[in-house]
Amino acid sequence: MSEIRVGQGWDTHRLAPGRPLILGGVTVPSEFGLEGHSDADVLAHAITDAILGAAALGDIGMHFPDSDPRWKGCDSLVFLRHAKDLAEAQGYRIVNVDSTVILERPKLKDYREAMRDKIAATLGLAPGRVSVKFKTAEQMGPVGEHRSAESQALVTLATENPA
Ligand code: C5P
Ligand code: MG
Repeated sequence: MSEIRVGQGWDTHRLAPGRPLILGGVTVPSEFGLEGHSDADVLAHAITDAILGAAALGDIGMHFPDSDPRWKGCDSLVFLRHAKDLAEAQGYRIVNVDSTVILERPKLKDYREAMRDKIAATLGLAPGRVSVKFKTAEQMGPVGEHRSAESQALVTLATENPA
């Protein structure tokens, strides 16, 4: 009997001038980017946590502590791929990914397909299984004041051998 499991992920990073804005592995032209120990790809981090959550395998900081110099400036697609590999080793396959980036500016919609393609390739999925959505925070709170970005993700996993 097959089983479906759902995982949820959330992340936030500060915006700072002169940092690259990397979302879903795609560099978006912007004067402000995200601060963090790794490349601060808030979207990749949320999806990584959603995969780990669906498989009950802990969280991103457990597998990639930000105190570890190995992960300084790291491409966060490495984390995403590792979460997929861990889930697959437990007998799960990813069914779909749905995600939202909340960022006041710049507009991201022109980069949607590039992000979907990059995330899908990293996870070995068809792009049709990966959704990336964008919202502003309507000028409210730290995201709306252009001080930070957030991302949320849901992932479903399927297994033929439920634990
Ligand atoms: O937040 P709001 O509802 O005003 O966003 C309207 C649309 O603008 C979104 O559906 C999304 O397609 C786009 N958007 C974007 N980049 C952002 C925020 C929103 O492309 N940073
Ligand atoms: Mg993060």
